Amino acid sequence: MLAKTPPMGWNSWNTFGSDINEDVILENAEAFVRLGLPEAGYEYIVIDDCWSMKERDAKTGRIVPDPKKFPHGMKYVSDRIHEKGLKFGMYSCAGVRTCADYPGSFDHEFLDAKTFAEYGCDYLKYDFCYMPETANGELMYRRMGLALKSSGREILFSACNWGSDEVHKWIRSTGAHMYRSTGDIHDNFESMKKIALSQEKLLGYSAPGCFNDTDMLTVGMFGKGLVGTTGCTEADYRTQFGLWCMFSAPLILGCDVRKLSGEMLALVKNKDLIRIDQDEEARPPIESHTGWGGDKRVYFKHLSGGEYALGFFNLSDSDQRVQTNLTNFGLSASSGLALSLRDVADGAHFGKFTDYISIHIPAHDCRIFICNLENA
Ligand code: GAL
Repeated sequence: MLAKTPPMGWNSWNTFGSDINEDVILENAEAFVRLGLPEAGYEYIVIDDCWSMKERDAKTGRIVPDPKKFPHGMKYVSDRIHEKGLKFGMYSCAGVRTCADYPGSFDHEFLDAKTFAEYGCDYLKYDFCYMPETANGELMYRRMGLALKSSGREILFSACNWGSDEVHKWIRSTGAHMYRSTGDIHDNFESMKKIALSQEKLLGYSAPGCFNDTDMLTVGMFGKGLVGTTGCTEADYRTQFGLWCMFSAPLILGCDVRKLSGEMLALVKNKDLIRIDQDEEARPPIESHTGWGGDKRVYFKHLSGGEYALGFFNLSDSDQRVQTNLTNFGLSASSGLALSLRDVADGAHFGKFTDYISIHIPAHDCRIFICNLENA
């Protein structure tokens, strides 16, 4: 089964946009391996938009890789990526053109799926621009879903219609393994926060086999690259990564992996956070917004094996106390039980709580714990 747990990898778009080529992709794949990301669970290297010629081949009707960017073709890139023990992902679009105006797969779905399979592709991101006015988006995703299944290769189907057309209600039925449930992310705190908060009511739709995708991470970009706007602080990125993990979202890095280091590298490799994200039950968190002041969230998530994850998020622009009553999550005072907390940042025991937890958290930051129920 593909996408038993949320897919993990890297995608070229956030940093490189149209500025991609064989070297950029293979150097990022090399850095990916050197930094130990595969051991942490990351596996897909995905080339986004702008990889092809502007027009299809007139004779064969096939999409053709741009020889200036990919002089050895896509099978070569795919082989080099596979040699590193990684998986190879590509991009196309349900409309007649991609979002950056390259050929889309509309009415060429089966031929394109076959072409991608021949490249040795393991993952297809499928966008939503330039749809004919009367075309039905759901049907277009059904077509590519079947085209990939019949391509002769197991290819993970990553749908990207930005959360439109109530996609959460029908996307699983198309065979997709993940789907963008939001618009595009930009590398600033407000963009990330808007995306995260827009997901609260949709998290129940995300489950093994097909996960809600809150877009590629901007962690580690620090304002550099295509979606780079103002950039974020380390606290902002801790919060972004923590939210994605609490939401069981796909973890697709979008930074220049060659420059990923220090705290941010440790963050994206944090074993406890990845365990929360990759928990096989993929349960949505229970959400609580108790306490004074706005823009604070506490999420409580059941994990497999009798554990829980508890995340305190201060999404406001000032330092705050973030509080919650454990009764929100089902713990009653009469149970005789307490929740024991261990901080994912350093593994330290944080305390045992029976009813109420209040933690001081700096602006934009978070605290996340793995918890067990014990006798009070
Ligand atoms: C957008 C998509 C982005 C990126 C871009 C490429 O529609 O949401 O993630 O793929 O197109 O042009």
